[in-house]
Amino acid sequence: MADSLVLVTGGAGFIGSHLVDALLARGHAVRVLDNFSTGKRNNLPLDNPRLELVVGDVADAAALRAALAGCTAVAHLAAVASVQASVDDPVSTHQSNFIGTLNLCEAMREQGVRRVVFASSAAVYGQNGEGEAIDEDTPKAPLTPYAADKLASEYYLDFYRRQHGLTPAIFRFFNVFGPRQDPSSPYSGVISIFSERAQAGLPISVFGDGEQTRDFVYVADVVALLVQALELPQVEAGAVNVGLNRATSLNQLLAALGELLGGLPPVTYGAARAGDIRHSRADNRRMLARFACPEPTPFKTGLARLLGR
Ligand code: NAD
Ligand code: UD1
Repeated sequence: MADSLVLVTGGAGFIGSHLVDALLARGHAVRVLDNFSTGKRNNLPLDNPRLELVVGDVADAAALRAALAGCTAVAHLAAVASVQASVDDPVSTHQSNFIGTLNLCEAMREQGVRRVVFASSAAVYGQNGEGEAIDEDTPKAPLTPYAADKLASEYYLDFYRRQHGLTPAIFRFFNVFGPRQDPSSPYSGVISIFSERAQAGLPISVFGDGEQTRDFVYVADVVALLVQALELPQVEAGAVNVGLNRATSLNQLLAALGELLGGLPPVTYGAARAGDIRHSRADNRRMLARFACPEPTPFKTGLARLLGR
């Protein structure tokens, strides 16, 4: 599918903008649809003639239909990515996080576009699988509107697969990190918050004892999968976990940051976040079986790139 036109919804955001860079580098033309709610213009190489930017909302069916015209595949990343925002405002976030997906399914059906890559989340498992490597068959337990919208989006994509021949590739991201991740909210990814504060010399707050672990995956490794899923002639049904099956504690993260920066500002340990998962780690055998996965970016290398070192 070289020279094809790929629609990237949410393409001005953290993961989306890295995907745009990768697709352009592979010779594709790219159209970004983004409402700039969290995305930024300067995440995008706007001087590239193969990149087209459409400012619009995926919840607007007509805008989405127009943005899809002429495209051969879609990466659907647009969403309010903050879980807390979905708790605070479930009605508004549902428009982006579910209605946007449904609008896309309809527009794809109408226009005969079949391939869509979808950014779902480990949040669909809730607290299930806690402490073990979580596989895709782990019972789902969406605990927030964000998680419920992601799971419903998965189910609708699968309905359109069975009924209308869409070929969705559904990815459940664990904790993605890297440059351009927005650290500005208390609910932003922990690596973006700690890195920004450490570089600015501001105190760092750990919620709990810092021994909780996450499966951190560097953004370039995620993007490599998304590109494959857009280009492969076939994709199998069924969602795919995106993680490394490696546990890194927040204390290990802090130690790595301290080594890279030659020291850390004061670190305080407070109460754990209500409902926090203690240990989250992906069983990634399905990912390894379905996609070419070269050795992933080592954690410290990814961290160094984020810090610009
Ligand atoms: P992000 O906030 O940087 O990117 C989301 C992009 O979507 C932004 O550019 C935003 O402006 C845009 N957007 C939001 N609502 C929109 C709407 N209604 N119409 C058009 N554009 C809209 O977040 P991200 O971390 O890059 O997340 C990308 C996707 O991956 C999201 O779907 C998110 O839920 C999912 N995800 C991310 C992680 C992670 O660790 N970062 C984990 C699980 C799932
Ligand atoms: C992440 C996702 C969330 C998803 C969940 C599912 C992000 C931003 N969030 O949540 O969408 O539902 O995975 O697995 O990617 N922490 C601190 N100090 C801080 C900030 C965070 O100690 O300033 C702690 C948190 O309490 C948590 C850990 O760091 O224990 C990771 O937090 P966070 O980056 O928000 O991700 P998850 O909670 O794993």
